[in-house]
Amino acid sequence: MKVLLLGSGGREHALAWKLSQSPRLTRLWCAPGNPGTAKLATNVPVKADAPDEVVALARRESVDLVVVGPEAPLVAGVADALAKAGIPCFGPVAGAALIEGSKAFAKEIMAEAGVPTAAFRTFTDAVEAEAYAVAQGRIVVKADGLAAGKGVIVAHDVDSARQAVRAVAALGTSGQRMVLEELLEGEEVSAMALCDGERYVMLPLSQDHKRVGDGDTGPNTGGMGAYSPAPFLDAEQLAEVGESVIAPTLAVLRRRGLPFKGVLYAGLMLTRNGPKVLEFNARFGDPETQVLMMQLGEDLLPLVDACARGQLQARPLVAAPGASVGVVMAAEGYPEAPRKGQRIDGLDAVPEDATVFVAGAEMRDGALVTSGGRVLTVCARGDDLARARERAYAAVAAVRFEGMHFRHDIGVKGLKAAP
Ligand SMILES: Nc1ncnc2c1ncn2[C@@H]1O[C@H](COP(=O)(O)OP(=O)(O)O)[C@@H](O)[C@H]1O
Ligand SMILES: [Mg+2]
Repeated sequence: MKVLLLGSGGREHALAWKLSQSPRLTRLWCAPGNPGTAKLATNVPVKADAPDEVVALARRESVDLVVVGPEAPLVAGVADALAKAGIPCFGPVAGAALIEGSKAFAKEIMAEAGVPTAAFRTFTDAVEAEAYAVAQGRIVVKADGLAAGKGVIVAHDVDSARQAVRAVAALGTSGQRMVLEELLEGEEVSAMALCDGERYVMLPLSQDHKRVGDGDTGPNTGGMGAYSPAPFLDAEQLAEVGESVIAPTLAVLRRRGLPFKGVLYAGLMLTRNGPKVLEFNARFGDPETQVLMMQLGEDLLPLVDACARGQLQARPLVAAPGASVGVVMAAEGYPEAPRKGQRIDGLDAVPEDATVFVAGAEMRDGALVTSGGRVLTVCARGDDLARARERAYAAVAAVRFEGMHFRHDIGVKGLKAAP
C-alpha cells in the first residue's frame, strides 16, 4: 500500500515509525514531515492544510490511503476534498471535526448522545455569561472556537470566574460564543478510539502532562509527556467508556450525515461519579500517540485502512506487554517564547532500548537544531511503568541542547495508582 501521512510533529514521526513496520506498506510519503519522518518516508514540501495540494499529491503518486495527523487539515476540509476525489482518508470531514473545533457543537452532540459530561450552558452575550459565572462561583469558561490551548480558564472563586469570562470574551471571534461548565475534579486521562464512521476499537488508555513544570505547576503546554497504559481504568471500564462515550457520539454524528472516520479522542475526567468527557479531539493526541504507537502490539496500517474504508472489525486490540513512557524535551522559553536554532547533541548516544521522536527540530548545515517549542519526545517501553520510566529518562540524559527543559515526573501518577 502507498500511504501519504500529513503533518510535521512528534505525533507524525511516531505514526510514520509504526506504519513503516507494516509488511503491507510499499511506500510512505509525509507532507511536510520533519527530519525524523525523513528517515522513514519521502518528505514532500506540501502544506498539509491545503486541500487542493494534498489531493494533487495523492493523485500524482496514486496513493491508496491518506492519514491525517493534526487538526488543521481536517478543519480546512482535506478529508472532504479527498472524499470527493475518491481517495480513502483516515481523518474526519470538516463537519465532523467540528467536534474539536467548536466546544458548543461538541456539547450539543454530547447532550443529544447522552454522553456523561460536565453540566453546561452556552452564551453569546458576555454580560449574561458573567452574571451566570458569578452566580456559580466555581466554573470553567471555554471559548467556543479553536484557541491554541488558551481558550479555557478554570475558575475556583467568584473573582476569578468574573475575570475568566472577561478574558475569554476579550479573545475576540473565538471568544464571542462561550461555554460555561461545571468544574469537575479527578484524574485526567486520554481515551482514543479508531473509528470507521460506525464501529470503533479502543486504543489503550493514556495520560498526558499538560503543565510545564513538575507536579503539574506552571502554564499549560501542548503536552510535556505521556505514558500508557494509564492504570486508572481496567479493560472492562475502558470498554464501558467505548459504550457510553464513543458509540453514542459516532451514532449521533452518523445520523447527522457526518460519519466520523479517524481518531475520536475523548479527554476524560475520572470523577467520583464515573468518567466524564471534558472535550473531544478529532485526531491523535500529541504526545500520547508517541507512547500509544509503542504500546500497540499489532499492525497499524490495516486498522487505519479499514477505518478509512468503513470496514473496521470491532474487537479488542492487541497491546504490547508492559508500559511506555514518553518525555518531551522542550526549548528554552517554551511555552511562552521558545528559543530556536540550538544545536541538538547526543542523539547517537541514546541507548538502543529508547526511541526518539522528532518534533520542533530541523536540519541546518548537516546538524539537527531546534525549531519549535516541543523539540523531541524521548520514549521507551519496559516490562512495567517503573522500568519504562528508567529507560526513557536514561535516554533523556544522553541528549543535550542549550536551554532544554523537561518534566522529571512523567508517569509518576501512574506509579502511585498501580495496583
Ligand atoms: N469541566 C472541567 N472541570 C475541570 N477542569 C476542566 C474542565 N474542562 C476543562 N478543564 C481543564 O482545562 C483543560 C483544557 O480544557 P479542554 O476542554 O481540554 O480545552 P483545550 O484542550 O481545547 O484547551 C483540560 O485539560 C482540563 O485540565
Ligand atoms: Mg484539551
